[in-house]
Amino acid sequence: MKVSFVKSAPAKSGSALVIANALKGNPYSKMGGKSLTAAASAAGFKGGQGQSFSTYVMSGEKAVRVFFKGRGKEDRFDYEICAAKWVKSLRGSGETTLNIHLDGTDATADDAARVALGARLASYVYDKRRSAATKSKKPPFKTLRVICDNPSAAKKSYDNFYGAVGDGTLLARDVVNEPPNVIYPKAYAARIKKLTELGLKVEILGEAKMKKLGMNALLGVGQGSVRESQLVVMRWDGGKKGAKPAMFVGKGVTFDTGGISLKPGANMWDMKGDMGGSAAVVGAMCALATRKAKANVIGIVGLVENMPDGNAMLPGDIITSMSGQTIEVQNTDAEGRLVLSDALHYGITKYKPKAVIDLATLTGAIIISLGHEYAGLFSNDDSLAAEIMAASETSTDKTWRLPLGKAYDDLLKSQYADMKNIGGRAAGSITAAQFLQRFVGKDTPWAHLDIAGTGMVNGSKDPRNPTFGTGFGVRLLNRWIADNHEA
Ligand code: BES
Ligand code: MN
Ligand code: ZN
Repeated sequence: MKVSFVKSAPAKSGSALVIANALKGNPYSKMGGKSLTAAASAAGFKGGQGQSFSTYVMSGEKAVRVFFKGRGKEDRFDYEICAAKWVKSLRGSGETTLNIHLDGTDATADDAARVALGARLASYVYDKRRSAATKSKKPPFKTLRVICDNPSAAKKSYDNFYGAVGDGTLLARDVVNEPPNVIYPKAYAARIKKLTELGLKVEILGEAKMKKLGMNALLGVGQGSVRESQLVVMRWDGGKKGAKPAMFVGKGVTFDTGGISLKPGANMWDMKGDMGGSAAVVGAMCALATRKAKANVIGIVGLVENMPDGNAMLPGDIITSMSGQTIEVQNTDAEGRLVLSDALHYGITKYKPKAVIDLATLTGAIIISLGHEYAGLFSNDDSLAAEIMAASETSTDKTWRLPLGKAYDDLLKSQYADMKNIGGRAAGSITAAQFLQRFVGKDTPWAHLDIAGTGMVNGSKDPRNPTFGTGFGVRLLNRWIADNHEA
């Protein structure tokens, strides 16, 4: 979708959204003349919040469909969501040109750029695996014009920030939406490798290399799969030379059958999205490179397929992780934490990051706790947690902090090894986080985001999320870097 920002002028074609306090002074007043005022009055439209009406105004021989939405007098108005809702309502209409009028409102340049992002997110389609016969016959949106009072500042904000966030989010969605026979570890790694075009450094570790490093926890998960496991390290060196990096680590289980502790068949197909954490990391690295962020950031993703097989890991197996700690695998479906334990240990010991955030579709229990609204946030460091909650607020990727503590950690005690990989039914998301914390050490500020409920959502009510893969986390990570790690 081609995005532009322009000064006040009525759209001459396509559909238009006008966000207005009142009808007076809006760009269509002249075109519509008295009839527009009459239509507004018939619709009872006074510009109040929640009020709206739709009409056609003539531009020469062309009719432009204009949708008026009341801004109201409330202190805050969510321009982004308003725009996304309208775009959603036009999906499949065949409309190709969108005009969004913010002129005459209190929308800032930041609001205008976010309107463009929201419209783009709401326009996203995943139909590339459909043949022409079943693809929608209606063309997708081609152009978006945001009409505002501060177009050059808005364009700057979009070009330098929100456009990159859009690129990263759509990439993350694509990866989650793709089927498991298309995105398996090696194919996924190859897709990440393409990001070198943006100036990212990408290193791929295969099974031989990981075996040498002793990553038996990660390798154990992929052991039943015919697809080779991969660990991918992305580097963006946009900051001061030699300055310690920030680090992201993501769970990339390209399909989670549960392994020998097999999942039930119903809805198992959703487990094609069990790489949402890694997708957020890849999307964020893409966004940072696209906007040339002034920070050093490392992104690590562990890519595996969790399969039952004659060679698969068994419940009861005891494995030695790269950190040297031994793990009794009581449930092969608690595999994400195994992947992350080695990825975290490797990243932290090798790159000594100043802070690390991991993301994972880790537990079904987080959906029971927080539904699809908030991701679970766990941290060993109050100031890092505060930074993330602040970035959550501005980025709209919502997180809610949950506790950690020794009593929870004790639930991981094993009779035969240093720990077991499940803690029991109680506090399932917390014991999973406790497990990860054992591989972080005391000296590194660390946060874990459980995005099982937010990274993949069927039938989301958020107009910006039209598909299963949401791209959750890209905006948050990008914002956290911008607010805390760029000069
Ligand atoms: N990938 C799942 C978590 C998940 C479940 C994500 C539902 C999205 C929707 C994870 O690997 C898993 O299977 N977790 C188990 C852990 C349990 C065995 C301790 C779970 O949540 O049931
Ligand atoms: Mn699992
Ligand atoms: Zn999983």
